[in-house]
Amino acid sequence: MSRVLDKVIIVTGGASGIGEAACQLLAKEGAIVALLDINIDSGKRIVDIICSQGGRAKFWQMNASIEHQVSDTINAIAQEYGRIDVLINNVGIIGDNKPTHEITESEWDRVMNVNVKSVLFCTKHTIPHFKKAGGGCIVNISSLHGLLGTPDYPANHASKAAVRLMTKTDAMLYAKDKIRVNSIHPGYIWSPLLEEVARKSAMGYDEFRAHHNKIQPLGHMGQPEDVAYAILYLASDESKFMTASELVIDGGLFSGQLINSI
Ligand SMILES: NC(=O)c1ccc[n+]([C@@H]2O[C@H](COP(=O)([O-])OP(=O)(O)OC[C@H]3O[C@@H](n4cnc5c(N)ncnc54)[C@H](O)[C@@H]3O)[C@@H](O)[C@H]2O)c1
Repeated sequence: MSRVLDKVIIVTGGASGIGEAACQLLAKEGAIVALLDINIDSGKRIVDIICSQGGRAKFWQMNASIEHQVSDTINAIAQEYGRIDVLINNVGIIGDNKPTHEITESEWDRVMNVNVKSVLFCTKHTIPHFKKAGGGCIVNISSLHGLLGTPDYPANHASKAAVRLMTKTDAMLYAKDKIRVNSIHPGYIWSPLLEEVARKSAMGYDEFRAHHNKIQPLGHMGQPEDVAYAILYLASDESKFMTASELVIDGGLFSGQLINSI
């Protein structure tokens, strides 16, 4: 119950899915959680649940792709708690499922603004606080689709590949400042984001769900808490010798795809 005891941990996109599971688990393990999201109702509801269970959490409304909102929020968090220990860059959207030759500039920009700029802005404005404190830790949520090619969601996949390399660049830039930066690459995780994809899919919700359970080597998709446990590990000092690493949480799908293609 104390794997991240008293650490001040920022979780962006904490009001749903993987971010929500991470906030709950980190709080259970002793963290002081700053939950950042555009969704006020869900954010406040989750904070209320955490606090009613004896955890420590506070909601901050913030659009992670608007730089001044990010800098104001991060500075306010540092002011309130005196420091920031960990940043979890989790915000993300999947965008439109169109082939590359049909995607519009604004559809492309929307995904890049949320998935890539959010990581840039949150990292940029947290680093000075880490430097002042003598160290810190960043966990970037990329995707399995930042590692392998599939014939769908071109903007999402490009954005997640960018997050993978931003992770490695920042890990090298700030290693001398004792700041660790790692990425997580979830496969199919049954969150509200994926449920929305299922609802919009040509197969329909039920068939999408059954199909995507069936193609997993372990026989089922992941749950948000499966990724939350990886976040907990990377946020804790248990991973103190890990930086620039990429942790795949995909039920074996990545290797499965390679094996099936042989
Ligand atoms: N679910 C999956 O299968 C899966 C797979 C690979 C990667 N991921 C990644 O994991 C992360 C979390 O995904 P999820 O499935 O939990 O999604 P989700 O939609 O359930 O939750 C995302 C949260 O981010 C918030 N958000 C969106 N845009 C925002 C913005 N501009 N500023 C602040 N908050 C914003 C939303 O309000 C929501 O609370 C994303 O980066 C996603 O790309 C998910």
